[in-house]
Amino acid sequence: MAKKMAAERAVEFVEDGMMVGLGTGSTAYWAIQRLGERVREGLKIQAVGTSERTEALAQAAQIPIVDFSRVAQLDVAIDGADEVSRDFALTKGGGGALLREKLVASAASRFIVIVDDTKLVRYLGKFPLPVEVVPFAWQLTKKRVEAAGCRSTLRMHEDQPFVTDNHNYILDCDFGEISDPASVHGYLKALPGVVETGLFINMAYVVVASDGQQVALHYP
Ligand code: A5P
Repeated sequence: MAKKMAAERAVEFVEDGMMVGLGTGSTAYWAIQRLGERVREGLKIQAVGTSERTEALAQAAQIPIVDFSRVAQLDVAIDGADEVSRDFALTKGGGGALLREKLVASAASRFIVIVDDTKLVRYLGKFPLPVEVVPFAWQLTKKRVEAAGCRSTLRMHEDQPFVTDNHNYILDCDFGEISDPASVHGYLKALPGVVETGLFINMAYVVVASDGQQVALHYP
């Protein structure tokens, strides 16, 4: 209920004529459902998805999907997060879609983050940080990632490595408390083999959080 309430409040930011980025995950699911209802009631928008899963959900909800490569700018993007720190840094990628999510969020004038309020934390780090890496020599990249001060695990799906929509792997990295997300992101991003990290810093326009009873808007 908390996820649904936050998602539905976020959809109120969407207006006629907008180009909308659609997130991935169980919270974004509710945003897609609500947006689909509004489209069926007459709202005119176009959307891009952050994963193949989301594109399929949007199409089922009758939301017109366009090719992201043809879109220069999005008006809003709405997406979930795994953790939100007090200074509005996010951990994302629990669902494995972090690369497309970051591309879409970075193209949005307003990036709206939707969470149940258990995800609001002082410091990031309880949720292991997803880091997308190329499959080639991933073991070497893993060692270099761990030199940043974490223990990492290759994400698996059944008995095979989990493969992202962009054909990469994910390392879930336990750093403990992340007090300086920008330096962790900078270090990891500079490593050959690292495609993207799940740290989203200075990107959120607003965090819409709910406890299942009420919805609160947190602005940086
Ligand atoms: C997908 O890759 C993620 O970034 C999700 O947005 C994040 O994991 C939040 O997921 P839930 O909304 O399912 O909790």
